[in-house]
Amino acid sequence: MRIIILGAAAGGGLPQWNCGCGHCDAARAGRIPSMTQSSIAVSADGLTWAILNASPDIRAQLQATPALHPTGPRAVPLRSVLVTNGDIDHVAGLLTLRESQPFDLFATQTIHDALAANPMIAAVNPDHVPRRTVALDRTIPLAPGLTATLFAVPGKVPLYQEGAVVETGLIGETTVGVELRAGDRRALYIPGCAELPDWLRQRIAGADALFFDGTLWDDDEMIRMGLGRKTGRRMGHMPVTETLAALDGTPLGRRILVHMNNSNPLCDPSSPQSAEAEARGWQVARDGMEIAL
Ligand code: MLT
Ligand code: MN
Ligand code: ZN
Repeated sequence: MRIIILGAAAGGGLPQWNCGCGHCDAARAGRIPSMTQSSIAVSADGLTWAILNASPDIRAQLQATPALHPTGPRAVPLRSVLVTNGDIDHVAGLLTLRESQPFDLFATQTIHDALAANPMIAAVNPDHVPRRTVALDRTIPLAPGLTATLFAVPGKVPLYQEGAVVETGLIGETTVGVELRAGDRRALYIPGCAELPDWLRQRIAGADALFFDGTLWDDDEMIRMGLGRKTGRRMGHMPVTETLAALDGTPLGRRILVHMNNSNPLCDPSSPQSAEAEARGWQVARDGMEIAL
């Protein structure tokens, strides 16, 4: 199995268009790596690919990734796109893929409903891009030799569906993790997760690779930095500090953090937090990073 990090950042990216924080300024100046928004590409045969989450940056991500370049006038190695929630950073890129190019669009019914409620998505013609509904805990083929199983993880509804009261530990079809299998390899992709209960830790245990929600290092870092009023938990993301502690004794192959917010000290490879994560066995994803299992 080959996995390419198309975008390692959370919604907004690094730098974020309206942010002049230390990280965003450093990324603009080239002192730390810029990161596009949350997406990975996966393949079992290296010839045909699935994309997990279609970020608003997908056009640039495809251009930067030779494995996904067209192989003929209207031929692409992309077989399918799967989305793990209805968040804008994970679905807005579907609009970029509206060129009557066939691929399967996989999601839970709840996520398909969220997409269908926006009339603009009709531009992604269902005759070419069939909406495939995936039930939780059922295994589906994503690309030749590659399967996916979706499972519920604690999360919340997308920002544009939030009402006055927001439940952040929703467990159902709103936010899912993905179990990827190719041959005897197993990888898990969980870019958004509000908490790590024991049943989820057991599901994760023993994977050859885990790609996990690295949005915020500390729950209140955005508030402390004057960048926002929300905690990570309010946004449906558990802090990395807790993730490291929760998974310390869990057997895993590679441990990789994805979906970093621009406030996260992990954006800076020379921060003490980056050193700590590494010392505890974790890698921080960067755009273009490739993992072979
Ligand atoms: C998130 O992961 O919390 C969302 O992408 C936030 C957003 O919709 O901008
Ligand atoms: Mn996000
Ligand atoms: Zn910033």
